Amino acid sequence: MDREEISRRAHADHPIAAPLDDDAVRGLLERALPRADGRVLDLGCGGGEWLLRALTARPELRGEGVDLSERALEDARRAARRLGVEDRLVLHREDAAGFTAPHAFDLVLCVGATHAFGGLPATLAAARRHLAPGGRVLVGEGFWEREPAAEAVALLGDLDDLPSTLDRVAADGWTPVHGHVSTRRELDDYEWAWTGSLASWALDHPGHPDSTEALATATAHRDEWLRVYRDAFGFVCLVLRPTTP
Ligand SMILES: C[S@@+](CC[C@H](N)C(=O)[O-])C[C@H]1O[C@@H](n2cnc3c(N)ncnc32)[C@H](O)[C@@H]1O
Repeated sequence: MDREEISRRAHADHPIAAPLDDDAVRGLLERALPRADGRVLDLGCGGGEWLLRALTARPELRGEGVDLSERALEDARRAARRLGVEDRLVLHREDAAGFTAPHAFDLVLCVGATHAFGGLPATLAAARRHLAPGGRVLVGEGFWEREPAAEAVALLGDLDDLPSTLDRVAADGWTPVHGHVSTRRELDDYEWAWTGSLASWALDHPGHPDSTEALATATAHRDEWLRVYRDAFGFVCLVLRPTTP
């Protein structure tokens, strides 16, 4: 079972692939979305859930998503048809770091996918290249809420704490105009959904060749979450505007 398939099964009950509840997603989109007929770009869009919610909320908005996973993009296409927004959605299967478009965007999203660019500064630099005048960026990134164990750093990378994350963003020429720090409940709900959906799939498909591996993966992930990073990991979403035009 490859990582894409694990991720699809793990996100069956939590289609936003980040630790945010529906109210938080709605609130962030309300603050970040441009004028009614603007363009939104999602870099590392996965199954397109942010775009689908944005397009459903704003009937004149147009969206584009970029992801490497064809299976995730196919899920996004299917959901867009079901919701009747497929005419306003363009999906690109390619590396987000190399993506170019003939037009600029009023909102550039990158939530839980800054690793595609090698970190937050490079993500913001890429977002700036895509941004129309007056546009906004919505970025979601992990941070250390408490001093992490070395094992947590090995697992999740060398993150900043929250104030240092904001310092870095400001030094790069961005001003936060809104933000959301995931609550312990959102963080826990996401992990329970991830591990629980994968485990449930395994139990529902006992004869499937992936079943044993899926259950073992869910168990190992839950163990790492509880033993290695639950007390140290945090997640923040920021709505940013360029400090100078
Ligand atoms: C944690 S998921 C987040 C998905 C989505 N942003 C969300 O919040 O629901 C990360 C996504 O980034 C995608 N990804 C990773 N590296 C990428 C790259 N170099 N270019 C484009 N997408 C990439 C993965 O395929 C995956 O769908």
